[in-house]
Amino acid sequence: MRKKLILDVDTGTDDAVAIMLAGLHPDLDLVAVSVVNGNVPVENCTDNTLRTLDLISRSDVPVYEGLSHPIVRDDFPTPRATKRDPKVHMAVLPLPPATSTKKALSAPIFLSQAFAEQPGMITLVAVGPLSNLAAAIAIDPKFPENCAELIIMGGAVNKSNITPSAEFNIWADPEAAAQVFRAPFRKITLVPLDATHEALVSREQCEMLRGLGSPASKASADIIEHRINGYEETQPTGTPRTAPVHDAVCVAALVDRDIIETKHVNVVIETLGEYTIGRTVVDHERRTTRVPNCHVAFHAKREPFIAMLSEVFAPVAPDRVKVG
Ligand code: RIB
Ligand code: CA
Repeated sequence: MRKKLILDVDTGTDDAVAIMLAGLHPDLDLVAVSVVNGNVPVENCTDNTLRTLDLISRSDVPVYEGLSHPIVRDDFPTPRATKRDPKVHMAVLPLPPATSTKKALSAPIFLSQAFAEQPGMITLVAVGPLSNLAAAIAIDPKFPENCAELIIMGGAVNKSNITPSAEFNIWADPEAAAQVFRAPFRKITLVPLDATHEALVSREQCEMLRGLGSPASKASADIIEHRINGYEETQPTGTPRTAPVHDAVCVAALVDRDIIETKHVNVVIETLGEYTIGRTVVDHERRTTRVPNCHVAFHAKREPFIAMLSEVFAPVAPDRVKVG
């Protein structure tokens, strides 16, 4: 039985690779994609998402646009790619213009309805700021328990990217993240920077992907090389000629849970700190009596992650083409 998932994205270069992996993996059933403001303005995230799904011939997957800004703060984030991070993300992905269009329904309403219609059957993989999820909780208090599992790309224990103490997805809407981590989801799995930076992809592996010769393999090679250029210039990973592909690691972990190594601990979100806003406070040393609410990935395996990308993005042999 294929695993059903809905992706919530802020496409985004690594989001695009996650969408392609989710849309092409034979063990996954990508039910829909919801979009949120994040790496770039939400309308650009939507356009990039549509371009990506069209590229892999998955225009059948519906796309729903969501919040254009955080649920509380109106002062940030100015979309990162236009202010801070033009090197890793881009307003318009280098893919053919989209021919498909988004659905009229807003993402939070869609999310609340979709999970209510199939309670406990669909995993939500959230790889952008958590604004749509917080709005869905406000619309339907049963939304959290209707999700089979929530897998989040975000946060950090001993790393950071957008400030010295925070990771972008959580920092971009900390009040939304705080609500999500307080909500009664059946299971929350957090894939933070500490894990995604162990599953780095290299220029040589991009060449390998490009050599596979499919639209997805060539696009992912181009996109990840763009990320490597950006990381080398702005935030070197410590391993030359590499970059993390954060969001795709979450999708890979849904297929093969052994790709990540987790601990069940308490996570709360800092929303008031003058210097620490958006920090995931991960109590992995049991310093408090707060109960564990999240399975945090402290490690991720690079080899099986890369192997999955190359296997799924390889051209489909004619005899394997699924009809209907
Ligand atoms: O900090 C990394 C995360 O922020 C990734 O999801 C990236 O796409 C951006 O959304
Ligand atoms: Ca993202």
